[in-house]
Amino acid sequence: MTAQTDHRISDPAARVLADPQAYTDEKLLHDSLAHLRRNAPVSWVDVPEYRPFWAITKYADIMEIERQNELFTNDPRPLLAIAAADDALRRDIEAGTGLRTLIHMDDPHHRDMRKIGVDWFRPKAMRALKARCDELAKIYVDKMADKGPELDFATEIAVNYPLYIILTMLGLPDSDFPRMLKLTQEMFGGNDAEFQRGGGVDDMLAVLLDFFNYFMELTRSRREHPTEDLASAIANAKINGEPLSDMDTLSYYVIVASAGHDTTSAAIAGGLLALLQNPDELARLQGDMSLMPTAVEEMIRWVVPVKEFMRTARADTEVRGVPIAEGEAVLLSYVSANRDEEVFADPFRFDVGRDPNKHLSFGYGVHFCLGAALARMEISSFFSELVPRLSSVELAGDPEFMATTFVGGLKHLPIRYSLK
Ligand code: HEM
Repeated sequence: MTAQTDHRISDPAARVLADPQAYTDEKLLHDSLAHLRRNAPVSWVDVPEYRPFWAITKYADIMEIERQNELFTNDPRPLLAIAAADDALRRDIEAGTGLRTLIHMDDPHHRDMRKIGVDWFRPKAMRALKARCDELAKIYVDKMADKGPELDFATEIAVNYPLYIILTMLGLPDSDFPRMLKLTQEMFGGNDAEFQRGGGVDDMLAVLLDFFNYFMELTRSRREHPTEDLASAIANAKINGEPLSDMDTLSYYVIVASAGHDTTSAAIAGGLLALLQNPDELARLQGDMSLMPTAVEEMIRWVVPVKEFMRTARADTEVRGVPIAEGEAVLLSYVSANRDEEVFADPFRFDVGRDPNKHLSFGYGVHFCLGAALARMEISSFFSELVPRLSSVELAGDPEFMATTFVGGLKHLPIRYSLK
């Protein structure tokens, strides 16, 4: 049922987008989003705790909004958070003490900041990291062999492997692994009681402060003794001849360490669940490993580790004929875009050979995921090691999803398996 409030279409189904719990129930979520795509693809959402926003659920509209990055900006509301957290972030940014990463910025500062990291994610840098990815993939699949026949794949394997790769890239010691793991989970598991440090905005800020303290020390050390790693590139970067402010430097580490971790682990755990729930597709891949690149792309489309980002209209405009006023926010539902029937043939079918597969899991336009090539390589290295060795795999309990409206996926994936 669709209700009309002044000029605005407001479909109750769109409330799922502001309900972290809804993301733990894939059927409810996808049924609601399919309904919205058909009946109210630009729907006004006004629910307690959150500032209102427009829910955008069609692929073409999301691309169109991201393409117009001067009309629709990331500042001041790049992602969905409760109003109190929006306010705290704003206050801290204005005071110069708040997190301000690439996703909080717009051009031209965004362009300058992005340039600092971009070389580290190009094909040449990826080739240099490939051996480390393959080596770590083997270590983790060997770990599965040791621990079998049952384990929680999400917590014991998927969450650890990508973090090691990010730490390698940044140039941090392996001994910092447990600390970074906890911090990234506290940061992104913000809506989920199992990972939260506490419930409030202050707890979230305390997590950020811990990140900052850690990386402040790193910056000091890399400025004194530059090394050949991404951390050194960030610590010693200059824009127009000036070093980055402390806050810009720290925010850079935070985005790399956090964006590069839970996203990829969600894709790996969700990818394995998709394979075991679609045994014909697993057998197809085992029979033809040259399908790995399309299989990896399909896992990323299927899982959608980043659920949404937001933009704010800088002038009165419209989307799909619906008027959007200056200052109003739009939520871009990548989860919905990747199941858009107008773009993907049979979108609810997991197809390891899907081609073309122009999903929006990495976003689009000037903010397109900086680590996309790295994520693809990590996932490919992992499954290239696991799939040929897998004799059998099945669920050993119910998979459990994280309650989050932002980044995440499976928090538990109990499996029973045997390896060759
Ligand atoms: C499967 C894994 C991943 C997914 C699904 C993913 C998804 C995304 C999305 C949706 C965006 C925003 C795009 C937009 O606004 O249009 C983004 C931005 C970003 N991602 Fe990823 N990401 C993944 C892995 C990584 C990795 C491994 C890194 C490595 C450090 C990374 C670093 C970043 C950075 C730095 C940005 C900000 C780019 C900007 O604003 O210019 N991501 N990612």
